Amino acid sequence: PRSIFFSRHGESQFNVDGRIGGDSPLSARGLQYAKALPDLVRKNIGDAPLTIWTSTLQRTIQTAQELPYPKLTWKSLDELDAGVCDGMTYEEIEQAYPEDFANRDEDKFNYRYRGGESYRDVVVRLEPVIMELERQENILIFGHQAILRCLYAYFLDLPQADLPYIKIPLHTVIKLTPKAYGCDEERYTLPI
Ligand code: F6P
Repeated sequence: PRSIFFSRHGESQFNVDGRIGGDSPLSARGLQYAKALPDLVRKNIGDAPLTIWTSTLQRTIQTAQELPYPKLTWKSLDELDAGVCDGMTYEEIEQAYPEDFANRDEDKFNYRYRGGESYRDVVVRLEPVIMELERQENILIFGHQAILRCLYAYFLDLPQADLPYIKIPLHTVIKLTPKAYGCDEERYTLPI
């Protein structure tokens, strides 16, 4: 049976600073994750064919850089666009746009950042990615928190209202193996 592997990029400089969005490089810990991945992936998949998908952002591309498999970059896998809030901390957003901050808390799935996207928008833009995923064999996706929440909710058939709160930790590979109904799931967390 084929599997779909998901992982967030390794820790980025913006993760360390508590800033959202952006296109920052990996931190030293993030690079350690990238270095540890080839061993984990080989142990799991052996000689079976695997294709890696990343976003166009450098933190996902860097995370994949040590892995010797064919790679494809998808613009549609880029992180949820936070518009005018891109690059800010949640504290800064709360101060600059208190109403928006409250509205987001009220309905996180539908809240659209000014000049940016909502989770609903992301679900729509991921449709072609999902169509292609359904046709493929083993795929490993290096994505972003909001993106992986949407993909995970699709494969596990979770409700929209819960989707923006799904926990997708850093430095963890989630393996989904689709079954006739639902998916088997395994998680591998690297102690980094
Ligand atoms: O902080 C990392 C990050 O991927 C941001 O780039 C993104 O805006 C955020 O997580 C999405 O999570 P939430 O919707 O919970 O703010």
